Amino acid sequence: MYRASRLDGKLDENTLNFLSSISEDKEIAIYDILGSQAHVLMLFENKIITKSEASKILSALEKLKKENFSIKSESEDIHELIEYLVIKKAGINAGGKMHTARSRNDQISLDIRMKIRDDINVLCSCLLGAIETLISLAEKNQNTVMPLYTHLQQAQIGSFSHVLLAYADSLFRDLDRFYVTYGRVNESPLGAGPIGGTSLRIDRQSTAKMLGFKGLIENSIDATGSRDFVAEYVGQISILMTNLSRMAEDLIIWSTSEFSFIELSDKFASTSSVMPQKKNPDILELIRGKTAQVIGYQMGILSNLKGLPSGYNRDLQQIKVSIWPASNIAISSLLVINAVFKTMKINDQKMKKAIDSGYSIALDIAEHLVKRGIPFRTAHKIVGQLVQTASNSKKSLPALSVQDIRNSVKEDVIKINDLYKIIHSSTVTSSLTLRVSQGSSGRSEQKRMISDRKKKIQAYHIGISKRTNEIKLAFENLIKKIKIIIK
Ligand code: ARG
Repeated sequence: MYRASRLDGKLDENTLNFLSSISEDKEIAIYDILGSQAHVLMLFENKIITKSEASKILSALEKLKKENFSIKSESEDIHELIEYLVIKKAGINAGGKMHTARSRNDQISLDIRMKIRDDINVLCSCLLGAIETLISLAEKNQNTVMPLYTHLQQAQIGSFSHVLLAYADSLFRDLDRFYVTYGRVNESPLGAGPIGGTSLRIDRQSTAKMLGFKGLIENSIDATGSRDFVAEYVGQISILMTNLSRMAEDLIIWSTSEFSFIELSDKFASTSSVMPQKKNPDILELIRGKTAQVIGYQMGILSNLKGLPSGYNRDLQQIKVSIWPASNIAISSLLVINAVFKTMKINDQKMKKAIDSGYSIALDIAEHLVKRGIPFRTAHKIVGQLVQTASNSKKSLPALSVQDIRNSVKEDVIKINDLYKIIHSSTVTSSLTLRVSQGSSGRSEQKRMISDRKKKIQAYHIGISKRTNEIKLAFENLIKKIKIIIK
């Protein structure tokens, strides 16, 4: 349709397929229609088109809401296709006025912003769902003791609740990143035109308001040519996915028969085509795999943007192909990991047993010595010597005799009998009761963090539903206005 004005001849099929973004544009068709409706209402309210012209265009657009747009079309993208169909339905005299005072360049930026805005709200809700699951699991597992690992070697005694709370806190940060980005996405570029604005007396504030935006992305060059908000959004999805991927990796390790800390529900496990005994964590592996895919999308976006001059360039069309799948992967990953957490079995006996066979009580013993005025470095040495003796003789620390202790400790800063008593009074329970620093594995800290995070969940719930309602209300008002003009 556009070509006929300036260029001779049709594009051949291959070239059209190469140029066209219709297949990706299906995701934004509804936003393009809503954006066009707000634009047409504004043109009418500002006496740029008549009521009868507005009515014809608006009812054509209304009908298109039910259209299943075919990818096989001579149009280059959804914007051209929708305009073509509106002109077909409303006639050139009315339909031909729809594209007054705007351009595909502000249109596409608008559509992407509306889509990401909705996706962010969905993502925030999914994140809250996953966080809620983690907090309620943490609440039930405050007494589920386990070793905490660094370098995948036993480090300190901890509780499963502490690990779950750590997961929850990383997801809170993801949530907060999306929550803040929403403000930058929720600005309307509509009416910026191709790059430099228009001489027609349009009202950009009014279309922004009709579409539920908080304000304008004001500068028309910036509004049409920038996609940093997309890089920001997909970048945050990449970060979220790396967090989920780490959780997935932990669960994969813990579900091995060697660890057996957890067992995945059959519903969330796969089996082997040949080995009948297998119960595989494929879903979790796919979270890892899809994380790689999302990071690839993020690379694609940044590489696309880095060499572009200011203003719209058609390269930007390729950015869309990264957004929708990134959103879908993040949403589905959150849903499945939430379900995995909800349904997995926790084997607290195995977790506890892993502590017994290790030396993760060592730092707690060293801290007992520190409390008696022994320099930490000396305490570190003493306990290190004890662990070495125990390990060489394949004993646990409490199994060391007074004689064993005497033979291994070279420092003369504490009586051997006192040291023996300290080793014997250092238990998992005492360790977790005495751990008092803020954010530690200590029992009181678990309780405090759980109740604190519950309040945080509520605050986000309120904020997110307020935002969703603002958009819903804006669209309801838009429809009301449209109905008044159409009838
Ligand atoms: N299909 C284009 C995209 O997705 C829309 C904007 C086209 N604008 C242009 N001046 N060719 O980015």
